[in-house]
Amino acid sequence: MALTFPNHETTADYDELQRENEQLRIQLREAQKLTALGELLSTTTHEFNNILLAVINYAKMGIRHRDDATRDRALEKILLSGERAAKITNSILGMARNRSSKIEPTDLGKLVDDTLVLLERELRKYRISLETRYDENLPEAMANGNQIQQVLLNLVTNARQAMKPGGTLTIAMTHDLQQGTVDLMIRDSGSGIPSDQLPHIFNRFYTTKSGPDESGKGGNGLGLAACRDIIEAHRGRIRVASTPGKGTAFTIKLPAASTGLDVVPPVSTIATPTSPASGATVS
Ligand SMILES: Nc1ncnc2c1ncn2[C@@H]1O[C@H](COP(=O)(O)OP(=O)(O)O)[C@@H](O)[C@H]1O
Ligand SMILES: [Mg+2]
Repeated sequence: MALTFPNHETTADYDELQRENEQLRIQLREAQKLTALGELLSTTTHEFNNILLAVINYAKMGIRHRDDATRDRALEKILLSGERAAKITNSILGMARNRSSKIEPTDLGKLVDDTLVLLERELRKYRISLETRYDENLPEAMANGNQIQQVLLNLVTNARQAMKPGGTLTIAMTHDLQQGTVDLMIRDSGSGIPSDQLPHIFNRFYTTKSGPDESGKGGNGLGLAACRDIIEAHRGRIRVASTPGKGTAFTIKLPAASTGLDVVPPVSTIATPTSPASGATVS
């Protein structure tokens, strides 16, 4: 009989706790996904609203002014707005279609560009200039497009929130031949992260923000934890380097498709300052 085992209850309790723990983890992952979806919804709704306003205003202009030149100009603007709206829906539909978590050879450059379409207006609104630098002949990376897009949205949002108007966001992609990885760096010229905070930023619920900003984003401390989970599932690495007052750079290393998964070094997702003594430095 089970009761004859002295530790039976403790073991049962332990198993029960483990099951509960696993359940909570699953629920948390779902919560992370929903938060991400909510933020995406907020971004796209703002984008669309903006496009609609442009369409309405140029249509009004075309109706009011009857000369050909003004009407041509109005129609051109309306066409451009429509094309931009189509680009955005395509990007969202792409995400909706691909719900699998399959990791496959992926063109990261295209993925980054598609994601930036969603963020352009927001960056402009906060007067953040964007610089992109992609190595020529980048190999494809082993990635799940949706998930990496999620990581990008999180990192770009954090970067934007850390910067004042006039800041610069740099996105660079390079091929690390030695390690067989495609490296994606997202650097901002923002507040930076004090070195005593750096080890905590990937922890779930760690946040220094008082709540979501006026765009409805961030403030729950789930963004970087989700990034870490996703990059871990890719057998990649995520690193951060930061200098208070100067800025922060996150680097993601993903296995290059051509070299396969085997040569990638073990997962390490610890916030690792890359520079000596004074803390972390943006290189
Ligand atoms: N680019 C950045 N610049 C400065 N601080 C950052 C940056 N990215 C993340 N952080 C810090 O890490 C914390 C955790 O980030 P995150 O997990 O995305 O949660 P949240 O954005 O909801 O606060 C932030 O509250 C902020 O203190
Ligand atoms: Mg965040």
